[in-house]
Amino acid sequence: MKEYFAFQWHITDECDQRCKHCYIFSEDNCKKPEAMTWNQMQKTFENCLDFCRTFGRLPYFYITGGDPILHPDFWKLLSLFKEHEIPFTILGNPFHLNTQVCQKLKFYGCQKYQLSLDGMRKTHDWFRKPGSFDCTLEKIQCIKEAGIRSVIMTTVSGKNIREVPDIIDTVVKYGADVFAFARYCPTSEEKEIGITPLEYRELLDLCYKKFRKYEDEGCSTYFNRKDHLWTLYEYEEGIFKIPEDAQEGMIYGGCNCGNCHMTILPTGDIYACRRVQNSKVGNVLKDRISDVWVCRMEEYRDYGKFEKCSRCELLAWCRGCPAVAAGKDGNFYGVDPQCWKEV
Ligand SMILES: C[S@@+](CC[C@H](N)C(=O)[O-])C[C@H]1O[C@@H](n2cnc3c(N)ncnc32)[C@H](O)[C@@H]1O
Ligand code: SF4
Ligand code: SF4
Repeated sequence: MKEYFAFQWHITDECDQRCKHCYIFSEDNCKKPEAMTWNQMQKTFENCLDFCRTFGRLPYFYITGGDPILHPDFWKLLSLFKEHEIPFTILGNPFHLNTQVCQKLKFYGCQKYQLSLDGMRKTHDWFRKPGSFDCTLEKIQCIKEAGIRSVIMTTVSGKNIREVPDIIDTVVKYGADVFAFARYCPTSEEKEIGITPLEYRELLDLCYKKFRKYEDEGCSTYFNRKDHLWTLYEYEEGIFKIPEDAQEGMIYGGCNCGNCHMTILPTGDIYACRRVQNSKVGNVLKDRISDVWVCRMEEYRDYGKFEKCSRCELLAWCRGCPAVAAGKDGNFYGVDPQCWKEV
């Protein structure tokens, strides 16, 4: 069985929110939204398939924006996926979903639909826009009823960290199929996310206990421990153990950057990671992804360069979040600002 390769494809910047933390609009709130033409989308798709053929991978697409559904050729793109039997997930907004739209998404092969929840009502609506919180929760059911897995993602910063436990209770109450959180990556002048390493450890501890309680009760929500610092937490708690047969120099987990993931922007620019500003490695409309992968992505898998992680026994499984590290001082290989481990 071939391994999947994930393309996070931002087909448009068009969006009916202007979230305070968004990497698309952080430098310029009035930025003219970019979008791919249909011709460019076809070229991009072919380039991705060529890459997968070359490296023996199976393509998986995370289609996003902005709100991808606002792209005029959104449904045409989905029919291309259906024609090629390629699975995909949508990361989008709740506003244009209804029963009919969700059923149509399911028809074209949508496996998961991810929505954001960045706080309880007041905080979420402050980040996003009034009414966004209620609309998001309301659409969980609509997604599920169509047979698509509903995913809720929270972007955590000092502004909402205290609300995460209530967010978890809320997503469980509304029956979300998957819940995860990731940390805010500073993308403008602001360089701090406002969370100390020990505060972050406390959050993981609190969430771990909450997740376990729900899991023991048979709760149907899957809690995706997405942040790689979960590995550090679980290692300290004796839940994760370094396998005895682990081989020196091998990479077993942690950040997928340079390994099985890349991002494509509406301009065609290829980024090693969307959350790492200035991580452009090529352009899908001009370059063959296969060449970019070999020549330009190499600089994102030089594991010995990690300033702190290269001295840590968890290097092969963790490496924290290089995007958060890069957001602080531009250094992809810098110290993860929330890693509490003394190395
Ligand atoms: C760009 S949005 C596109 C999908 C949809 N519009 C949404 O907001 O969920 C995808 C995810 O990126 C997150 N995001 C945006 N800016 C971010 C940043 N600076 N750091 C970390 N995550 C960010 C959003 O919160 C959202 O969960
Ligand atoms: S809804 Fe998503 S794409 Fe739009 S501004 Fe907010 S985070 Fe950015
Ligand atoms: S030093 Fe790096 S690999 Fe080790 S726990 Fe911290 S972030 Fe993870």
